[in-house]
Amino acid sequence: MSFLEALKKTARDVDTLLDELIPLKGAAAPRVVEAMRYAALGAGKRIRPFFVRESARILGADDRAALRTGAALECVHCYSLVHDDLPAMDDDDLRRGRPTVHKQFDEATAILAGDGLLTHAFFILAREETHPNAAVRAELIAALAQAAGHEGMVGGQMLDLQAEEAPSHAEEDVLRIQRLKTGALFRFALLAGAILAQAGAEDRRRMQDYADAVGLAFQIADDILDVEATPEELGKATGKDAEAGKATFVDLYGVDGARKRAEALVERAIAAVDPYGPRADLLREAARFIIERRK
Ligand code: IPE
Ligand code: IPE
Ligand code: MG
Ligand code: MG
Ligand code: MG
Repeated sequence: MSFLEALKKTARDVDTLLDELIPLKGAAAPRVVEAMRYAALGAGKRIRPFFVRESARILGADDRAALRTGAALECVHCYSLVHDDLPAMDDDDLRRGRPTVHKQFDEATAILAGDGLLTHAFFILAREETHPNAAVRAELIAALAQAAGHEGMVGGQMLDLQAEEAPSHAEEDVLRIQRLKTGALFRFALLAGAILAQAGAEDRRRMQDYADAVGLAFQIADDILDVEATPEELGKATGKDAEAGKATFVDLYGVDGARKRAEALVERAIAAVDPYGPRADLLREAARFIIERRK
């Protein structure tokens, strides 16, 4: 299977599973569940769940466990997008080619739908179906909490907003923001396969090295696409980062400089999984896709 086929398969499988995991039938408050389903189902590349599955496959963990873990991670990612788009944050009207949740519903519902998805992610991980070993489930929960919270994505989103008010042109500041707001969830995705496989320190380190490089390259590509792609291609507004004065590599080094940086990171990611030989071919293709993608 090629990387693109594997990614498509993961997108279908994640959608089917999330449809089961967030049922509307019997909901206590149907409106918030409708908004959660609107945010989580039907679109998105599902690249993070792909990485959970692929790291699990390489290290020998069960695919069903990896898919559930990927679905939980996707709930956190979708929540982060719903809140990122709110008027108080990036104030966006379009996401995945459709009106953002606060446009389709309203702001309060979008806040609650985000909260609902975040909480549900941990419910999914805590259930026995995720992994028979409770210590493994606890480790997944702690790792996702750390990646999503104030030492991860939430911390990065805070710094991203603060940088609009007090722009810094130091590379280390931009690196810190991007590693936290985007890198942390990628790090969890690749660590998750190692946790599910109960892998040793060396495998964990390789997966983390790959994730750190790919996560950073992913956000640099997102920032380049904000300048170069069209809203039709991306399914979200473009030209917003410069307008908001966001701290990005494009802002620091221009599009060409940012692209060179991303290309070097892709080479670093590919080198990190070298010891796995042909087993890691899909991770190599995925790293290249991240900077070549048009959406
Ligand atoms: C967008 O993530 C937010 C960033 C971290 C750059 P994706 O590009 O993975 O968004 P979807 O899930 O495919 O819509
Ligand atoms: C978002 O970064 C990172 C998140 C944690 C959601 P962006 O604000 O650049 O993401 P887009 O461009 O809106 O998808
Ligand atoms: Mg943002
Ligand atoms: Mg945004
Ligand atoms: Mg962006």
